[in-house]
Amino acid sequence: KESGYDAWLHYRRNRKVKNLPAWCKVIVVQEADEVLHTAASELQHGLSSMFGQQPRISAVPVSAPFIALGTFQEHAWVAERFSPEEQAEVSTEGYRIRGMGTPNPAHSTSHDNKDIKGTHVTVAGQTSKGVLYGVFHLLRYLQGGLDGKLDPTSEESLQAPILDVLSNPANSIRMINHWDNMDGSVERGYAGASIFYDNHAFTTNMDRLRDYARLLASVGIQALSINNVNVHHVETELITATFLPDVARVAAVFRAYGIQIYLSINYASPIQLGGLTTADPLDPGVAEWWQAKAREVYAAVPDLGGFVVKADSENRPGPFSYGRHHADGANMLADALRPYGGRVIWRCFVYDCKQDWRDRKTDRARAAFDHFKPLDGLFRDNVILQIKNGPMDFQVREPVSPLFGALKATQVLLEFQIAQEYTGQQRHLCYLVPQWKEVLDFDTYAQGKGSTIKRIVSGALHSKSDSVSSRRKAIVHVGSGSFQEEQTSPSPKRGNYGIAAVSNIGADANWTGHLLAQSNLYGYGRLAWDPELSADEIANEWVRLTFSGQGTEDASADLIPAIKQMLLDSWNIYESYTAPLGVGWMVSPGHHYGPDVDGYEYSMWGTYHFADCRGIGVDRTTATGTGYAGQYFSPHADIYESTDTCPDELLLFFHHVPYTHTLHSGQTVIQHIYDTHFEGAERAAQLKDTWISLREQLNEGIYEQVLERLEHQAEHAKEWRDRINTYFYRKSGIADQKNRPIY
Ligand code: GCU
Repeated sequence: KESGYDAWLHYRRNRKVKNLPAWCKVIVVQEADEVLHTAASELQHGLSSMFGQQPRISAVPVSAPFIALGTFQEHAWVAERFSPEEQAEVSTEGYRIRGMGTPNPAHSTSHDNKDIKGTHVTVAGQTSKGVLYGVFHLLRYLQGGLDGKLDPTSEESLQAPILDVLSNPANSIRMINHWDNMDGSVERGYAGASIFYDNHAFTTNMDRLRDYARLLASVGIQALSINNVNVHHVETELITATFLPDVARVAAVFRAYGIQIYLSINYASPIQLGGLTTADPLDPGVAEWWQAKAREVYAAVPDLGGFVVKADSENRPGPFSYGRHHADGANMLADALRPYGGRVIWRCFVYDCKQDWRDRKTDRARAAFDHFKPLDGLFRDNVILQIKNGPMDFQVREPVSPLFGALKATQVLLEFQIAQEYTGQQRHLCYLVPQWKEVLDFDTYAQGKGSTIKRIVSGALHSKSDSVSSRRKAIVHVGSGSFQEEQTSPSPKRGNYGIAAVSNIGADANWTGHLLAQSNLYGYGRLAWDPELSADEIANEWVRLTFSGQGTEDASADLIPAIKQMLLDSWNIYESYTAPLGVGWMVSPGHHYGPDVDGYEYSMWGTYHFADCRGIGVDRTTATGTGYAGQYFSPHADIYESTDTCPDELLLFFHHVPYTHTLHSGQTVIQHIYDTHFEGAERAAQLKDTWISLREQLNEGIYEQVLERLEHQAEHAKEWRDRINTYFYRKSGIADQKNRPIY
């Protein structure tokens, strides 16, 4: 029985191919570099697992065919394989792969590829990290994970693969955030305990961490924060001598896979650790304390990525306590980290979590924009603002945060949540890549058409615009904080942009609890590398890599498309039986699992639906509501402002309407609620039926794990359906046109 531990890296034995293809017998690596060494051993492992024979790793070229791994600068043979122009097209962490059978343009004049041993395969990059990513690409290819490129069941096609690949990551920072606590719990973790900590100590299971590093590097992740953004008492000491040696050990494991570690810090550390009376960012003693701290931390971990900071958010300390603003807070830390090349990743999840539901003027959705837009241009060039994809909190449906594009002179990271906090907690199937694609493709119009989120978060939009090159600000005032004159303004570099996401993994044998939730981790990495990939392509890759080779061969022909379709339908299914039309929430307070329509309705968190007997939804228009719609650039500000143009799926996010309001779909709001909830529960049951129909083609261990989750989902979807339908029937008094049972 399989457990799912190997995820998409199990490299099942290719039974159609008897021998290791000739060109795979030797791997040549001439440079002594840790990450290149990793690349070679990953390749060696993958090839021996797939072909049943171990390739040899050699430091010198051999006369037989071989695979060469190396960087253009250091490996002469590799450099020779690519023209200077071709080399120049590769970015810092990108790669080129060239296979035998592919003419070599660098030598096109000689027409003689034999001169340069044309039967070799070369994986090359500017850096060893690029080569590592190239190796994982090659392994995906050899497993047949890349659609239509190679038939791994044909010996012939494997003998002479025609490969000519250039791939550069769109985003420089491709990060995972862990919300792990040192007691071993994971905030919003749905896959078991932390793999990093247990009982207020670091794990001793370095193998598990190494296996995690492999999964991450295989999809191009290169940054990792290893503790919860809510930094509690013990975790505050991660930056002290008590734990720094452990942090260094963990950093070493990930370093071998090209991954840089970050720590979440407690803003009040100078008080808690240093015994100071204040953490005021403008207090010279505080700044000095952080400078000394940075020196100590970097002495232990010289390549630490930097600090992640959740300040003035959900009861965490921050600069507001001292009447300072967030640029003061972030810049003080940034100055301390600068000598070591460290970054400050400052989260924008700042809002009033002590709101009164009667107060219709305060709008949590507005908060990030209201706090951070006025600070645009004031941050140091090693500060990056991390912004959640939507203005609320990872709901199944939200508009895109209007802060993207509004910040014109500030470096940003987009934050997704791979953990399914509000999307079924890895008990329900919810493939999130289609949601993330919608976010990345959203056009903000910040600088006219084409100002998409993906171009903003990759830095592409801003690095081209003049508005960011030199922006000076006079002293301005926001709230009680005052700005200091900035001498030089940041000129954003592409290096300080990208995407981060909250991890969905834990100590469960299959990493993610629901085995199919592995697709979200895989998909996140692939999308952070290349946002142009489609949700369908990514699903296809993941399903092939994870499931091909299971069961009988004829059967796996149906298996792949069937599982892929389950993934692609799942977000829509989940949305249909939960909170309707973008209004969000309606979950049980605290743990956020399962339906509770009024669970947050009278609390202080600012997450209301305002349903009464007349209607439902939040008026966020500029004309009569909170004005949130006006935070968008034209045309979105106008589109969202009017019910005539607001997309149905976001109607209740932007408008309060009667239940009889007619949607663009032609349906009334109340009938839409009934229809989607009845259909959603049926479709959830069909997911389970599809899985059952695949039984013969699946490994028993995998089959059972997933079945247990899908059975639960089908039942739980009914509960959602009934709770929501009943609530709205009683509120509105309007019957279902189709007379289905409402309890
Ligand atoms: C959500 C989540 C919290 C988390 C917070 C954050 O509110 O429920 O657990 O701490 O987001 O992103 O900081």
